[in-house]
Amino acid sequence: MTRSVHAVTTLEDRRGEAWWTTAVVYQVYIRSFADGNGDGIGDLTGLRSKLPYLADLGVDAVWINPWYPSPMADAGYDVADFRDIEPSYGTLAEGEAFIAEAHELGIRVILDIVPNHTSSEHRWFEAALRDEPGARDRYIFRPGRGPAGDEPPNDWQSAFGGPAWSRLDTGEWYLHLFAPAQPDLNWEHPEVRAEFEDILRFWFDKGVDGFRIDVAHGLAKDPALPDAGERLPGSQHTDPHPAWDQDAVHEVYRGWRAVANAYADRVFVAEAWVPGNDRLARYLRPDELHTAFQFDFLRAPWRSASIRAVIDDALEQAATVGAPATWVLSNHDVPRTVTRYSRSQPDHLVETDWERARWALEEPNHELGRRRARAAALLQLALPGTAYIYQGEELGLEEVEDLPDEVRQDPTWFQTAGADRGRDGCRVPIPWSNSEAPYGFSPIAAAENTWLPQPGHWAPHTAQAQAGEAASFLTLYQQALALRPQLWTTDEPVEWLDAPHGVLAFVRGGVQCWVNTGTTDIELPAGMQVVLGSVPGITDGVLPTDTSVWLAEPEHDR
Ligand code: NOJ
Ligand code: CA
Repeated sequence: MTRSVHAVTTLEDRRGEAWWTTAVVYQVYIRSFADGNGDGIGDLTGLRSKLPYLADLGVDAVWINPWYPSPMADAGYDVADFRDIEPSYGTLAEGEAFIAEAHELGIRVILDIVPNHTSSEHRWFEAALRDEPGARDRYIFRPGRGPAGDEPPNDWQSAFGGPAWSRLDTGEWYLHLFAPAQPDLNWEHPEVRAEFEDILRFWFDKGVDGFRIDVAHGLAKDPALPDAGERLPGSQHTDPHPAWDQDAVHEVYRGWRAVANAYADRVFVAEAWVPGNDRLARYLRPDELHTAFQFDFLRAPWRSASIRAVIDDALEQAATVGAPATWVLSNHDVPRTVTRYSRSQPDHLVETDWERARWALEEPNHELGRRRARAAALLQLALPGTAYIYQGEELGLEEVEDLPDEVRQDPTWFQTAGADRGRDGCRVPIPWSNSEAPYGFSPIAAAENTWLPQPGHWAPHTAQAQAGEAASFLTLYQQALALRPQLWTTDEPVEWLDAPHGVLAFVRGGVQCWVNTGTTDIELPAGMQVVLGSVPGITDGVLPTDTSVWLAEPEHDR
């Protein structure tokens, strides 16, 4: 029997607890969430209109991708002004109204801070271009190499492809680990440090509950700017590199933690792609950041042994610094979970190319991918720590792999001359209702209006089509999110249970989680009650392949 429990969580209930040790956070990619004014781009009006949806879903907080004024060279990660809101999204006053409305519904608000770089249209870089005294010191300008100075100062590559250096007409080079329109800041400069601490206070004063830190491992560079040699950017996950994960970055976060500590209940979550969880734990020392995304979880193939190894390593390393683990199955930078699971699975953690070359040779089986993604959701939500859900994950959306080339916008696509198709496929606007594009995303009827086109076959996946349907993705997420705070608090450890090959099984606080990644159905332990299954009908003691289940003793007291 599936129990349905309704949890009402308000900010008041949670006062005094470290809410961020157990929170479920919903990632809003604002451009693609909901369009209020009909220009085809998501905005604050749209977001505010969907707050009841988020409250019904049962999330504790939202993380909003950058909403600051931006020329959109990298979908808002090129910030022109950190203290305002992008005009096509709305106004600062609307942002403040959104924060207040979210809080009224018991939903906290996490913003995205982008400290590694600014937009090339930020006033600081414009001053640097004009060569105002001292202005270039806030960025990383260097003379070129070679007799004419026309070779880049070192061999670093942009994470989007091509050299990480661009040259001004006047001959000097500047560093950009991402797009040329995203010049890297010089974090050895005291003004840079002071400015960002002030930006944090600006938003904390407006009631913002925390920040996701973009490229948290990128701010400090080896001051000698040595060549990276073989250590190219794709390997930033695995190898030391003079641009990434340098020890000096930790001093920055000690300063930021002091800023946050002056407020109640604020949280940081780091985006840090580092060579291992021992390195990740360094960001989570008690005087640094509260949480950091556990990306190995989304890099793991759908194989029980790989997933278990990731969970063990993540929990073990987080425990060394007393931090919660932060589980994430997808975000706006990686192929959607359904699609990652919809083909044959590798036997290793995937790297930044997401195995796309292999994917081109194999048709995706989205039905299979959805089944596995549902099972993974119950796994994610049973683990101790925080969980992030990327918009559309709760609808079971797949990656849109067949976007026409002419609509692609990701700088990765341009900087690799099309060799890497980039991240647009996971950023397609959300289908809310109706049977045709734009599926209620935008009040304008025309499908071609949305900033990226939606597939013609998404009618069954709209929020409206799934609402109240017992077997839908959305209902599964609603049920799991309602049950989670009733089944677990913060501290219950994961204890692994004996399980057949291909199966993960653990018990936490008296509740068992079984996940079958194998090729045969398995028998579940006798005498346990099904609390929630990833597909309907797991009632007869059998766990089918590619499903998962939460089980409790019949008399389990919750
Ligand atoms: C990570 C962000 O998630 C990604 O979308 C962005 O392109 C880079 N950082 C650069 O800011
Ligand atoms: Ca709009």
